[in-house]
Amino acid sequence: MSIQDNAKRLPIGRRILRALRSLVGLKNEPLPVEHVKLNRSQYKTIWNSVSVSENDAKMAVSGYIDEDLYRQMGEGTRDMLTSFVGVGPDDVVLEIGAGVGRVGAALAPICKEWIGVDVAENMLGHIRQRLASFDNVRTVASSGFDLSAVPDASVDVVYSTVVFMHLEEWDRYSYIKEGFRILRPGGRMLVDNVDITSDLGWKFFEEHCAVPPLERPAQISKTSTPQELETYFTRAGYEAIEQVRAGLWIITYGRKPAAPAPAEEAAAPAEEAPAAS
Ligand SMILES: C[S@@+](CC[C@H](N)C(=O)[O-])C[C@H]1O[C@@H](n2cnc3c(N)ncnc32)[C@H](O)[C@@H]1O
Repeated sequence: MSIQDNAKRLPIGRRILRALRSLVGLKNEPLPVEHVKLNRSQYKTIWNSVSVSENDAKMAVSGYIDEDLYRQMGEGTRDMLTSFVGVGPDDVVLEIGAGVGRVGAALAPICKEWIGVDVAENMLGHIRQRLASFDNVRTVASSGFDLSAVPDASVDVVYSTVVFMHLEEWDRYSYIKEGFRILRPGGRMLVDNVDITSDLGWKFFEEHCAVPPLERPAQISKTSTPQELETYFTRAGYEAIEQVRAGLWIITYGRKPAAPAPAEEAAAPAEEAPAAS
């Protein structure tokens, strides 16, 4: 019997727990040994290799393949986004690390355009198939380090969920800065990660301590502190930064400042002009 068949026989509560463990990196089955030898920054190789078939991709993304659970979890993330940063029918929404479109399936019906960005072209192929019925869905491949294919000031909402734990800190910050660049003035960005300062996050951290150092897979999940994420948002230039601690998770969001009104813009150079000698 396959892993997936076994998983389907578990009661729903156990399935969700199992899925959550996988979502945050505590896989229920050993990770492919070759991943131990890869560098953590080889995002493209790592994530393409686990996403050749749709079921493999779903397992890598979430630890389950059950479509009902996919829909429920996707709707949960959509509700979190709508309540924290708002998503409306005129919004262009972009997800960094979009997986197979778990959240995109719930957002596409309520926004103007949903753009799924992922480092793994295989993941993007699954999104195009799964969300083929939507004409407002687009996919964009990233290098793993930036959003260079996305124009400046072209998006209203940027988010990344269950992704930062797999990234180096420098790349977390790079995506937050890139989010700022591609957002229109007044646009919103939200990210999450496991919060090491929470009891559940600490338990998660301790469980990962048990992995022998030389057996750590390249994509092993690493936590954040609220201060780390707040610092990235502040340094990148966001305003109205808020943080929500939700069990295992620290959710951080902020807004790109609105463009100055034309009158203010016109007044600014005059104020800064050097005094005539
Ligand atoms: C755990 S999955 C989460 C997928 C999706 N956000 C969800 O919640 O269903 C992590 C995703 O991030 C992508 N990813 C990993 N590293 C990345 C990087 N450096 N840049 C962009 N995407 C990345 C993976 O290919 C994978 O699709």
